Formats: sequence, C-alpha cells, structure tokens
Amino acid sequence: MGGSSGSSFVAGLEGVVAAETRISGVDGDAGALTLAGYPVEEISGRASFEEMVYLLWHDELPNTEELAAFRGALAGRRGLPAATLELLRAAGARNVPQMDALRMAAGTLGLDAPDDPALDLVARLPVIVATYHRLLNGQEPVVPDPDLGHAANYLYMLDGERPGEDSVRALETYLNTVSDHGMNASTFAARVIVATRSDLVSAIVGAIGALKGPLHGGAPGPALDVVFEIGEAGNAEPVLREKLRRGERLMGFGHRIYRVRDPRADVLAEAAEKLFATDGDRDLYALALEVEKTALRLLEEHRPGRNLQTNVEFYTALLLHGLGLPTDLFTPTFAIGRVAGWTAHCLEQRSEDRLIRPQSEYVGATDRTWLPAQER
Ligand code: ACO
Repeated sequence: MGGSSGSSFVAGLEGVVAAETRISGVDGDAGALTLAGYPVEEISGRASFEEMVYLLWHDELPNTEELAAFRGALAGRRGLPAATLELLRAAGARNVPQMDALRMAAGTLGLDAPDDPALDLVARLPVIVATYHRLLNGQEPVVPDPDLGHAANYLYMLDGERPGEDSVRALETYLNTVSDHGMNASTFAARVIVATRSDLVSAIVGAIGALKGPLHGGAPGPALDVVFEIGEAGNAEPVLREKLRRGERLMGFGHRIYRVRDPRADVLAEAAEKLFATDGDRDLYALALEVEKTALRLLEEHRPGRNLQTNVEFYTALLLHGLGLPTDLFTPTFAIGRVAGWTAHCLEQRSEDRLIRPQSEYVGATDRTWLPAQER
C-alpha cells in the first residue's frame, strides 16, 4: 500500500483484479497454471503451437480440418512486407538490439491496413526475429518454407537447416508454456491500448516494449551465465554462497506470484531432459542440475521458510541454449510465444469494449499563486 491514509492506492496494482478472462489462470499458492481450461502440464508438451494459438483465440482446440486451415493461413502470411525488410536492414546496419528491432518492425505490420492483424502478428514475429538475427550476423535471410509448421519454420529460418523432430517438440513445448500467464505487465499494456479502440498492431508494439524490461521478459540470459561462470560442479557451492553473501539474487529462483514451485519450471525441465537426452551438451545439463540443487539448498538457508524455488527462467535458459539459440534471442523468442496470449487478450478486451481508465490520487501541492518569471 502507498499514498496517504484512507487512500485505496496499491503500489504496482498488486492484488488488484483488472479483468475477467477465459484465457489463462494463475494460482500462486497452489503452483498451478491453467491455459483455457487445460493445466499447463497437460497441454504444453502435446499441442502444436498452432493448436495453442487457436485454443487461446477460440476457447476450443481445432478439429483436423480447422487445424489444417489455420496452419495454412499462418504459413501463407509469413512473407515480410518490403517496408519491414527495409527497416530491418537499416536497424542491422546500426546494430540495434534485437528487442528494439522487433518492436520497430512489428510496427510496420500496420502499414498496409491488414485484414487480419492478429494472424499477421503471430505469423510474422518469428520471421522478423530470424531475419534480423541473420542480418546482424552478416547473412542473407532464409526464405520461409510454407510446408513447415510455425515452430519448425522459425528454427529453419535461423540457420537454414531443417530441424529434427525433437528440437521442434522442445520449442513448441516452450512456446506453449509461455503463451499466456494471467495479467502480466505486457498483457495488461496490450489490453489498455486496445481498450481505447486503438488497433491491434499498436497494442502488440506496446506489449513488446513492456516485455523487454528486465523485471519482465528481459532476464533469462543471466541464469545461464551463472551456470557458465560456475563451470564445474565443485564450484557451485562457493560461487553461489559468495553471491548470496554479497546480497545478490540468484537468477532463475523466486517469483512474485508463485509461493511454491513455478509449474512452468517442471514442464520445461521435462522438455529439457528429453532434449538433452538425444542432443546437446550432456555435461552442461548435468552441471545445471547440480547448480539448481545447490541453489535450492543455499536459498533455504538464506531465507528459511520462504520456500524460494526454481522459476521458469532457469529452464527456459537451458532449453533455448540446448536448441542452439544465443542468449540475445531468448527474450525475442519469449515474444514469439507470448504473442499468442497478447492477441487473445486483445480480442477478449475488444468484445468487452470498456475503456480501462483507473484513477490516481493527487498528492502534490495545492493553492499555489502564480508568480511572473522574474519574481520566481
Ligand atoms: N536469490 C536470493 N534471494 C532472493 C531471491 C533470489 N533469487 N529471490 C528472493 N530472495 C529474497 C529477497 O531478497 C527477500 O529477502 P529480504 O526479505 O531480505 O528482502 C526474500 O527472499 C523474499 O523475497 P520475495 O518477496 O519472495 O521476492 P519478490 O517477490 O520481491 O521478488 C523476484 C521476486 C523478483 C522474482 C525475485 O525472486 C528475484 O529477484 N529472483 C531472481 C531473478 C529472476 O529469476 N527473475 C525471473 C522471475 S520469473 C519471471 O518473472 C518470468
């Protein structure tokens, strides 16, 4: 609580219910996430990303024909408008960071008055990210392949190689797991924008800006950096102890809403286990598990009874690294998953058609008297 006594102001809107939604529900005490009726553990590892988007938009999974039509509609919209490509080339020449380039390029998707902006945004965000990644690395973009599914095409466009089934499954599990998460900051930003009857592209551009911040989607890389810094299992305890002694937070642990283990961490841990069983660096995976075990033990000593647990970022970092993604693609890849939820929330907010307009409490001075400039 903040503000003067008697005020109903709540700092950070903590605990304030800002919408009724059918898209997802988060129970922080039970450690449960429901995505349009399905527990995250039930659906994330099974659905394709196309099925997940369809579910969040329509509140039902598609049947075979509906799914084929939806896959085709997304694949048919992957080509980037010339203005988007031009902007990405200009941004690449200036070394603009990935998330800024994504925000600017997403804005160009509104230039030609799109007939279905939600579909365009979901279809094209991964194309923008992969295209820009290649331009930044001095490579020409890979042309999207309409025969590939959404997740497979993203991996294909990053390095020009057709990904294996295990990699595609791991990425889809990740994208599904992060597709929506209650009234998180970027989703709220999108709903506020669309509630003014502004357009969907503007809402998603605002959401990308909110996701970029380090308190939201901007920090999965540091969790992996700690594992690299530790280097071998024997170093885990001294390195982590020293960080805690210096008052640092251990990245990938703790959560504002979850007071028990983040259910998304378990889903991604299982996906990472499968991915690293067939592919990737087994030693790094084993080391990460050791780091996690040690961190949990030390955090219990550090804040006894607070039950600080592994959060989604720890296994996000491991899984995306296992897929060969560099750390600067972690947050853009988060956006590629979360745009499913953002667009679903925009459509839901539109059907409600109610301006979001809270109040503020004035705490400044009153009854001041105007003085001409020379007398101030
Ligand atoms: N390492 C060390 N100490 C911690 C950690 C951590 N990871 N997390 C919490 N604590 C400490 C806090 O400093 C606090 O100590 P204090 O009482 O002496 O001040 C105590 O535990 C309780 O903290 P909470 O109230 O649970 O933390 P809060 O809700 O303010 O913060 C947050 C949650 C920001 C996620 C925090 O746990 C953190 O900084 N974690 C590390 C960064 C991280 O992994 N971020 C990604 C989160 S997942 C997501 O947002 C998608």
